[in-house]
Amino acid sequence: MSPAARRGLIIFLAGVALILGAFAFDYWGLGDRAGSREVAGVSIGGPFTLTDQNGDIRHDSDFRGKLMLVYFGYTYCPDVCPATLNTMTAAMDKLGASATAVQPIFITVDPARDTVPQMKSYAANFTPRLLALTGTPAEIAAAAKAYRVYFQPVKGEGADDYSVDHSAFVYLMGRDGRYLAHFAPDIGADQMAAAIKKYL
Ligand code: NI
Repeated sequence: MSPAARRGLIIFLAGVALILGAFAFDYWGLGDRAGSREVAGVSIGGPFTLTDQNGDIRHDSDFRGKLMLVYFGYTYCPDVCPATLNTMTAAMDKLGASATAVQPIFITVDPARDTVPQMKSYAANFTPRLLALTGTPAEIAAAAKAYRVYFQPVKGEGADDYSVDHSAFVYLMGRDGRYLAHFAPDIGADQMAAAIKKYL
């Protein structure tokens, strides 16, 4: 390859790296795309019908006029889920009175084990405003699909033992139910509260 061709190739590859970097920056929640309805051309969010920890049926449309802070996970999750729900709880605390304009929602990806009573006892560990939603496998699959959430049970050591791999973004949805922003699970509560505040 001639030096000129090599230089051209390097410039081209640097351009590709820049584009991929910008894409990753946005996709992983580091960028702030206020008002964006899409991530990488994919729409996020949509209708769901699920059952809360008190046994009441909940639709996404019940929360129009409020922001929704939506997280998918499962109660047997050893680390990421409780940590993220703690962050959501702390962010709600930091928002003070204005937190009433935000509905924190936890949706299980493990409906077989996360029954209504299980969700009720688990939700008691976090903000009292948390709605913990479960449903039939089909209802959960539909909700996860709408939010582009990946989940996959993974067999453990014992016969009935399994964990569930899942994507762990927290989604902030607008008063109209449409996507506003998402946060990586390791975001701090201060940062999450500040980001939510911008939309209040
Ligand atoms: Ni988890």
